[in-house]
Order: sequence, then C-alpha cells, then structure tokens
Amino acid sequence: MKILITGGAGYKGVVLTKQLLDNGNEVTILDNFLYGYESVLHLVQNKNLTIIREDVRNLRESHLKDYDGIYHLGGISGYPACEANPHSAHLINVEATKTMANNLSNDQFIIYASTTSFYGDTGKVCTEEMAIKPVSLYGITKYHAEQYIMQRKNSVALRFATIFGISPKMRIDLLVNDFTYKAVNDRSIVLFESKSKRTFLHLLDAINAYTFTLDNLDKMRGQIYNVGSNDLNYSKLEIAEHIKKYTNCTIIDSDLSDFDVRNFEISFEKIASLGYKVTRTLDDGVQELIKLYKFYKPFLAYKTI
Ligand SMILES: NC(=O)c1ccc[n+]([C@@H]2O[C@H](COP(=O)([O-])OP(=O)(O)OC[C@H]3O[C@@H](n4cnc5c(N)ncnc54)[C@H](O)[C@@H]3O)[C@@H](O)[C@H]2O)c1
Repeated sequence: MKILITGGAGYKGVVLTKQLLDNGNEVTILDNFLYGYESVLHLVQNKNLTIIREDVRNLRESHLKDYDGIYHLGGISGYPACEANPHSAHLINVEATKTMANNLSNDQFIIYASTTSFYGDTGKVCTEEMAIKPVSLYGITKYHAEQYIMQRKNSVALRFATIFGISPKMRIDLLVNDFTYKAVNDRSIVLFESKSKRTFLHLLDAINAYTFTLDNLDKMRGQIYNVGSNDLNYSKLEIAEHIKKYTNCTIIDSDLSDFDVRNFEISFEKIASLGYKVTRTLDDGVQELIKLYKFYKPFLAYKTI
C-alpha cells in the first residue's frame, strides 16, 4: 500500500514508519520536524520511504491524492505542550485535521491517533460509547478532531492509553517514562494525586495496534476503539511502586493537586474481541527505560571530559 503518516518523525510515528516499511508498504512521512531531524536519519536510505517537510496546516489535495490512506499522528501532543501553545494547538490539532479530512476521497482511509486522556475524571470504567466532556485543552482538541474525522465512513479512531517505552524520538514527559527518569536520576518520585488511575501501553503494542487496524480495516472502519489492556490500568502510586522495585527510589506522596486531571479505568474489550492482544507489561517497559537512562542524560547541564 501507499501510506502517508503525518507526524511520522514523532515518538510513535517514526517507529510506525519503520514497521510499515518492514511490512512492504511505500511510506511517506509528512512532518514539520518541530523536534529536529535525528529521529528519521536511520530510515532515510530506505527506497520505499519519502520524506516531506511540511506543516499539516498547509495540507491540500495535492499532498494527499496519491495515497491509499493516512495515519494521522501529526499535532501538538500532550497537556503541557497544548497549554504552552493554545492557539496553535487548536489550529494544528483541530482545524488542520478538518481540512485534511475534507480533501480526502471516500476510498482513502484515515487511521486517527486519538487518546483516552479526554475521559477526564470519571472515576468509572470507560467504554467507547460513554458521553465525553473533555477538560484539558489537549483533550478538547483531540476530541473535536476525532468527532470530525468520524463523520467519514472510511475512518477509524484509536483512543490510545498513555504510551511508555523507548523511541528514536524520545518523550520523557510521558508518565512512566518521566517517573522512571526521576527514579534513576533524582532517586525520588514526587506524586500528585497518587491514587488517581490511568491506563498505559508499551510503544511496540501501540504500533501493533496501528498495523492490526490496517489488516482489519474492513471490520474496523467507521468505529472508535480504546487501545490498551485491562491489565494495564494503574494508579500513579502503583506505577511508582513498580519502578521502586528496580531502582530503590524514594516515593514522596504529596498533597498537591495535578493540573492534568485524569482518573479513570478503561475497558479494552472492544478491540480485544477482534483479536488484538497486548504482549508487553509495565515491568518490561520500566526495565528498558532504566537501561536507557543509565547513559541517556538529555538534561545534563555540564559535561566532564
Ligand atoms: N504518546 C502518547 O502517549 C499518545 C497517547 C494517545 C494519543 N497520542 C497521539 O498520537 C500522536 C503522536 O503522538 P507522539 O507521542 O508521537 O507525539 P510527538 O509529539 O512525538 O509527535 C508528533 C509529531 O507531529 C509533528 N508535528 C507537530 N505539529 C506539526 C505540524 N503543524 N505539522 C506537521 N507536523 C507536526 C511533530 O514534529 C512530531 O514529529 C499525537 O496525535 C498524539 O495526540 C499519543
């Protein structure tokens, strides 16, 4: 297939690109390289890969017409990045997504990188059918874009759990990645609202969900799926305790509240009923991250030579 990946240089996008190339597809990355070029360097030599430096806000029919479909991952990802750039977050995550969807023909698919984070503070087990009132700007932009995309029949929205694990374009801000970094480097993790529950997924299981969706498009199009595992719903305290087993860090349970309000458990029955399986555990991810963080020090202010 000929596939376009917006945000293909990002944390998830670059690993997805490699997997789709390995599976024999022709892939085009479209990205504005907000975070630099290094993540794609190992892929440039692949003859089945094209790379376009472009902003999704400039997408027109001419950028889109040659593909069987699009994985739409490009955008401002996460609570802090959206709060720092509210106007751009709206234009990029919502308006550019609408323009893109309007410029596709009905036989081109969209597989949309949606999120479970807009379930907010329900304190309940959330299903895809549940009414949603997103709270954070990130959640609002992702939800509005999802609603628009799902007006097309040939679209699938994958509402991912928070991802953990290692990518050529690392993200240390994601909760498990962040806590493990602090455990290794600061030897302590400070928790806000330690009992609040979230849901998590290893990066490679997220990539498997993307390719699983492509393989099962006929069954999945027109539908929204939570993507994760019923075995990976954890409170922040439980995550910190898993990390402590390997690092012997100190856990400081503070009274402070979290600006990014989330407290939910998610049901992943819908995608599991189609045969999608998660194979990696939280401990798998934490051990890989500890191995990385023993030498990877992006925030080190000085160097000894
Ligand atoms: N990482 C997670 O835990 C998670 C969970 C659920 C959903 N998602 C969604 O998955 C997608 C990818 O997330 P990620 O973790 O890889 O994030 P990321 O920030 O690493 O990747 C996003 C990519 O989009 C690109 N981008 C940003 N603005 C752009 C623009 N205006 N034009 C073109 N490219 C632009 C960036 O350069 C980057 O390469 C996002 O849409 C995010 O909302 C991520």
